[in-house]
Amino acid sequence: MHMVRLVYVSRMTEECDTEALQKVLKISRSNNKAKDITGILCYDPAFFLQCLEGPREAVNQLYSEIQRDPRHKDVVLLDYCEVADRKFADWSMAFVAAGDISPQTFETYGGKGKFDPYALSAAEASRFLVQLAAKEQTLLAGQ
Ligand SMILES: Cc1cc2nc3c(=O)[nH]c(=O)nc-3n(C[C@H](O)[C@H](O)[C@H](O)COP(=O)(O)O)c2cc1C
Repeated sequence: MHMVRLVYVSRMTEECDTEALQKVLKISRSNNKAKDITGILCYDPAFFLQCLEGPREAVNQLYSEIQRDPRHKDVVLLDYCEVADRKFADWSMAFVAAGDISPQTFETYGGKGKFDPYALSAAEASRFLVQLAAKEQTLLAGQ
């Protein structure tokens, strides 16, 4: 079995209100568990940054579905690679709201200007999400 990690960024659409977001999380957690997919979803009022990791076929199939989801648009693939280990093994889908991220974390990746996830390189995007998961460990624990 080939295991892959995929990272993409997208912009939320008007269809994605708080209730829709809760639905996404709920369905993600139950679907992903069944498909052996783990990952993290970072959300801000404007964008999503998500990492999916798991069996190649399952991740590819889910990504096709996610790309067609009207709750977001401008989906851009930032990173796709085969991996030996998971970085988010403990979470069927960890969830971090940008409001909970420390300003220092943003500064590391966005300089002094506004944080723009579309400007991240593949390596930066993965590092950013890994750093988030590590920093927000307490927050994410139990999810
Ligand atoms: C930003 C975003 C992230 C999503 N992440 C996942 C995910 O990790 N897993 C998942 O099953 N669905 C995810 N979805 C929802 C899918 O696009 C799709 O609606 C869902 O997989 C359909 O599930 P169902 O066939 O069980 O109804 C996401 C949607 C959005 C907008």
